[in-house]
Amino acid sequence: MTSTGAYELQSLNSFGVSAKAERLVAISDKNQLPQLQFQPQQDLILGGGSNLLLVEDVPGTVFQVRLTGRQLTRESDTRTRVTLGAGENWHAVVRWTLAQGLSGLENLSLIPGLVGAAPIQNIGAYGVELAESLVEVHVWDWQQQRERTLDRDACDFSYRDSRFKSAEPGRFLITALTLRLQHHFTPRLRYAGLAQALQETSKNPDAPSALEVSDAVIRLRREKLPDPAQLGNAGSFFKNPVLEAARAEALAAQHPELPLYASQEGHYKTSAAWLIERCGWKGFRAGDAGVSAQHALVLVNYGRASGAELAQLAARIRADVWREFAIELEPEPRILPPLAPLT
Ligand code: FAD
Ligand code: EPU
Repeated sequence: MTSTGAYELQSLNSFGVSAKAERLVAISDKNQLPQLQFQPQQDLILGGGSNLLLVEDVPGTVFQVRLTGRQLTRESDTRTRVTLGAGENWHAVVRWTLAQGLSGLENLSLIPGLVGAAPIQNIGAYGVELAESLVEVHVWDWQQQRERTLDRDACDFSYRDSRFKSAEPGRFLITALTLRLQHHFTPRLRYAGLAQALQETSKNPDAPSALEVSDAVIRLRREKLPDPAQLGNAGSFFKNPVLEAARAEALAAQHPELPLYASQEGHYKTSAAWLIERCGWKGFRAGDAGVSAQHALVLVNYGRASGAELAQLAARIRADVWREFAIELEPEPRILPPLAPLT
């Protein structure tokens, strides 16, 4: 399907901001790909639009990924491979794998968006990242005009990052993923609050089922984050900063309540929400652009905010956190065009 001439994208992004595209092309069959051209400077690949801030119109084509398919291949008595089309809904797939008796994705329940976007920022939540169960990413390489399969190591996954997001944005269209899931469930309950939530809801909180963990994650997420169907947002607007140990210790001496979590060797992750709240932004509203009163890391659209208003608000928050803590917050969603660098 192709629609041309100023196509409105408001219902296709979770911020609910108005922006237009010159053309919209739905990709529902891989055989369409050899006929298509992708120009990264002016075109956009769109999944569920839940990690996107459209500040300006898209001058070219929006490619809407609609490739479906769910396939199970038993590898051994303990593991099964699952291959999923990029256009499948992520949360629906998570619940479907659980219904098949397969575990591994339960902590990633209720993350909005489609399967194809999951590797872009290596989605993560409640102590688990996609990369842990990912085997291969199936792509269309626009540069070489051919299908390819990239194994996990070729994807350069790290916290909210990958080859697709940083090193080679715009080179690949993800068509499918292959994951490896487990027949025997090992709960991962490190993340603060998850074990406690299970104490209240699980029949056997010390050995919960994968479905119980998924239900607990869903409940926690509903408590903490605004629902984009009610209030436009893109989840966390900034990444949690990762600091070198010496810098983290110096800051903690000045701000003893600063949350610090051990991260990669010699580093600590801190909370962007805490930094933003300390700068006084939680619950702020100017017109229809604001910062959630529920969670300081979530920018919200109360109705008619423009992408530009939300981007201006993000820039003000970032400048304040820089002034107050000398920490540069890095946006998490794709912003079109990107925020100007801090000067
Ligand atoms: P989109 O917003 O459509 O696209 C995001 C980026 O990926 C764009 O650059 C786009 O061009 C690119 N892209 C999309 N599909 C493809 C494809 N098939 N091939 C190539 N490029 C593609 N994220 C987390 O990691 N953890 C969370 O806990 C989390 N919680 C959230 C909670 C809320 C309420 C919201 C609104 C968002 C949250 N997010 C979270 C962010 C978001 O849900 C994820 O990043 C998700 O993977 C985005 O999927 P999408 O299909 O909506 O991507
Ligand atoms: N906090 C505040 N003020 C707030 C909210 C939180 O100070 O308004 C502090 C508290 O100290 C709290 C800490 O921040 O303990 C962490 O908060 P939370 O558990 O809500 O997690 P987060 O770090 O804000 C991250 C991810 C989320 C993911 C959750 C759960 C990032 C950027 N965000 O949020 O991912 O769902 O953990 O794992 O890593 C997303 O990427 O869009 C997203 C929602």
